[in-house]
Amino acid sequence: MTMDRRIFLLGSAASAYAFQSEKPVGTGMIGVGNRGSFLLQGVLHQPNAKVIALCDIKPDRLDKAATAAARDNPATTADWRRIIENKDVDAVFIATPPNLHSEMAIAALKAGKNVYCEKPIGITPAQVRALLDAAKGSGKVFVAGQQLRSMKQFGETVAKIHQGAIGEVIMVKAQRHAPADLDHDGTSGDWYFDVTKSGGYLIEQSVHNLDLCNWVIGAHPTRACGFGAIVFYKNDPPGRTIFDCGSITFDYPGGLKMSFTQNVFHPASMPNGGQYVYVYGTKGGVDLTTGTMYPPGRGAQPVVLSAKQQEDQFAHIAMFFDSVTKGTPPPVDVKIGATAALTAILGHQAMVQEKVVTWNDLGVEV
Ligand SMILES: NC(=O)c1ccc[n+]([C@@H]2O[C@H](COP(=O)([O-])OP(=O)(O)OC[C@H]3O[C@@H](n4cnc5c(N)ncnc54)[C@H](O)[C@@H]3O)[C@@H](O)[C@H]2O)c1
Repeated sequence: MTMDRRIFLLGSAASAYAFQSEKPVGTGMIGVGNRGSFLLQGVLHQPNAKVIALCDIKPDRLDKAATAAARDNPATTADWRRIIENKDVDAVFIATPPNLHSEMAIAALKAGKNVYCEKPIGITPAQVRALLDAAKGSGKVFVAGQQLRSMKQFGETVAKIHQGAIGEVIMVKAQRHAPADLDHDGTSGDWYFDVTKSGGYLIEQSVHNLDLCNWVIGAHPTRACGFGAIVFYKNDPPGRTIFDCGSITFDYPGGLKMSFTQNVFHPASMPNGGQYVYVYGTKGGVDLTTGTMYPPGRGAQPVVLSAKQQEDQFAHIAMFFDSVTKGTPPPVDVKIGATAALTAILGHQAMVQEKVVTWNDLGVEV
């Protein structure tokens, strides 16, 4: 980070805290379902945060969260705007269904709050554009919940690739294959299978993996083509509108290709399932998930670029609070969040339209 940037950050979001060094950051949580409960645990774990208010439209979730946060005796509400209006709330966590993120985050920023917003930050170009506009120049911290970027092993491996460990990066192959669909009777069933609410598997889940690809490549794609379908979970659950598989090719600057596949029916006992990002360079390849480099040539010994290490499950949340209180750079700012969301939207649109879709077609300047 350059000194200029550090000064800029210290002069903006952190300034409010410079005068109140010991004051905990008043925090409001919107959406306390699966992810929101985890985030709440993470907030409670921080030495410099206090849970002021909780919001969810489902009373059972709200009760459970209020019990979990009893230490801080938070207010509860089913109306998210009351969190935004609360003068004691300095930071807002948003973990509602994806179609709601942009509107809620924009309102929070406009009310002068710092925002931790779950991924994807938007599911349409218009939502992403509006949030980008609101965050830029707001003087507030915005962090997207792409927490893989806060994992030490990924960070070290990507840094070594950027330093030239495999020469020039020339191709990437990545996948997100799961052994099962999301639970059809589960808590997220009311939005996840509706493409207008979740955006679909690529936008809602694979956005994490696509972000890793953009990170290691150091750019966003310029265009994409691909196909998606519902082949296994046909009309299951009834009315399903999200694909259960897809294959997309992304074209990056300089002609670099990134091939991405996803499905939710990879038998758990079959090898090569799960998620990986293979990065090919002019001097070898890297399995990003294990931090291992494979030099070219038969019999060449793998080289560990970064060994598996103890990761703090709440590291991303801690970095958000550090950004708010100390002015350190956010681990995933609005630009990274927007770029990841747009990459996923690009791939999704290519699958839906079954034609080449360009980044410029999205009409959003990041
Ligand atoms: N970063 C990660 O690794 C990760 C992991 C899981 C989920 N997520 C993201 O978190 C978000 C939520 O996913 P989830 O699995 O927790 O879903 P969920 O269905 O368990 O939780 C969403 C909650 O939002 C509440 N909600 C819906 N509309 C609301 C409104 N208008 N006002 C207030 N509350 C409202 C629901 O009642 C529910 O409790 C999604 O964007 C998902 O992509 C991120």
